[in-house]
Amino acid sequence: MNFNITHDINKEIKADLEIIIVIDKNLNHTFVQDKKLLKKAAFEGGQDTLCMLVEKERLYVGADSLSGSDLRPAIATAIRSLMGNKSYKSIKIASYLNHPECPANIRAITEGVLLGAYSFDRYKSKKNRIHIKNVSISLEDYSNYELSIEVASKSLHNGEITATATNFTRDIVNTTPEDCYPETLAKIAKNLAKENNMECTVLCLKEIKQKKMGSVLAVARASRHKPRVIHLAYKPNKPKAVISFVGKGLTYDSGGLSLKPADYMVTMKSDKSGGSAVLGIMKAVSELNIPVEVHGFIGAVENMIGGDAFKPDDVLKTMSGKTIEVRNTDAEGRLVLADVLWYAQQEVKSDYLIDMATLTGACVVGVGEYTSAVMGNNQEVVNLILESAKTSGELASPLYFNRYLAKTIKSQIADICNISSTRYGGAITAGQFISEFIDEKHKDKWAHIDIAGPAFVESIWGENPHGASGAGVRMMLRVVERLARGESHGG
Ligand code: BES
Ligand code: ZN
Ligand code: ZN
Repeated sequence: MNFNITHDINKEIKADLEIIIVIDKNLNHTFVQDKKLLKKAAFEGGQDTLCMLVEKERLYVGADSLSGSDLRPAIATAIRSLMGNKSYKSIKIASYLNHPECPANIRAITEGVLLGAYSFDRYKSKKNRIHIKNVSISLEDYSNYELSIEVASKSLHNGEITATATNFTRDIVNTTPEDCYPETLAKIAKNLAKENNMECTVLCLKEIKQKKMGSVLAVARASRHKPRVIHLAYKPNKPKAVISFVGKGLTYDSGGLSLKPADYMVTMKSDKSGGSAVLGIMKAVSELNIPVEVHGFIGAVENMIGGDAFKPDDVLKTMSGKTIEVRNTDAEGRLVLADVLWYAQQEVKSDYLIDMATLTGACVVGVGEYTSAVMGNNQEVVNLILESAKTSGELASPLYFNRYLAKTIKSQIADICNISSTRYGGAITAGQFISEFIDEKHKDKWAHIDIAGPAFVESIWGENPHGASGAGVRMMLRVVERLARGESHGG
């Protein structure tokens, strides 16, 4: 899809269709031209509702406001409605600036177009695609807010990279466990490193054994697919900060011997969403030429059953030396993260350390399926992530650790237990388990994001499609962009 940003008056731009945002529910706004027709069609302009006026070549879409987080899903919904339609090859959109000199909405519109145009059809014989080739965004001044082409183009460019990387992550997550296993994730990482000039190290079984990653090895043991621990590094000159991302990359989670019930096993190809988000983030930061050193670590493992499976009752020795009593093999993500986080901390001393994981069903119960939960020891780091999520269009909510829940993951026979003795607060106890594998140097630099809800939802929501959403990518890119601007968590 080609984007073109121009000062030309919208009316004079040639396009097959104009997409028009309506924020005024009463259609009183002077910009709304087709009031009579819209009223006749009973269009009320609610968020993400559509009204197509074919003869006028205008597609109206409602939004609650002109903020990015309302514009993005509205535009995505409009674009999605054109899926499979070959009549519209070019579209035009006004820029809907709502702040002087602020190009944020150009980025939101661009992201809305590309995120809404996404479809996953790898396994469909008949492809249902978007046929739009050209998108013009007019900087025509509606509200006395002026923007230079340069500033607007930069915003458009950032939006293109962000959305393309999000779609890249969506594709990986949506791919079946038969086609995407640990070695596949390693191959994707290596290709990305080659294309985007990054460093890439992949630990195979032998190296993982040498590093004594006892919990990665245990989770991986029953699978015919050997595990991989992936490290991608993007190292610009004179970086403003160093940040490490660690992703849970369970290419399938059957639950292991603590087998999941049939209904809960479906969609567990999405248990690689954290690791896949790391790949998307690395793709984007290397394309944005961002002045921050970014490391991406992925624990790529398949959790299966078999005669050689690890068991409830086992005690594992992790790379850190700490031992873990296994009481449930389905709480495998925290086991993999324990080793990969430890490895990440040995390899890189970073200013920020953020892990992302589809870690607990409890998190989905707690905050709902559209929201990620953010946890950590340092409220300022948590706030940095929450604020970044907000501008990115992702939903995130904090959850807080406490000393009483910490006691529930104590073990009588090992250093710690992989499940809690209480059935309540499961997202927090999982986070507190992981915090046991963060060293002194990183304690205040670490945050854990449970993306179990939004990573994979089996219905369309806003700018997100059925299936993988690419959760974590947009939010973390905003974090890195803030660090690039010299905004630390303190400032
Ligand atoms: N991958 C799952 C968590 C999950 C559940 C992700 C639903 C996305 C949607 C994780 O490995 C898991 O099975 N967690 C268990 C932990 C429990 C055994 C303490 C869970 O949440 O039930
Ligand atoms: Zn599990
Ligand atoms: Zn899992």
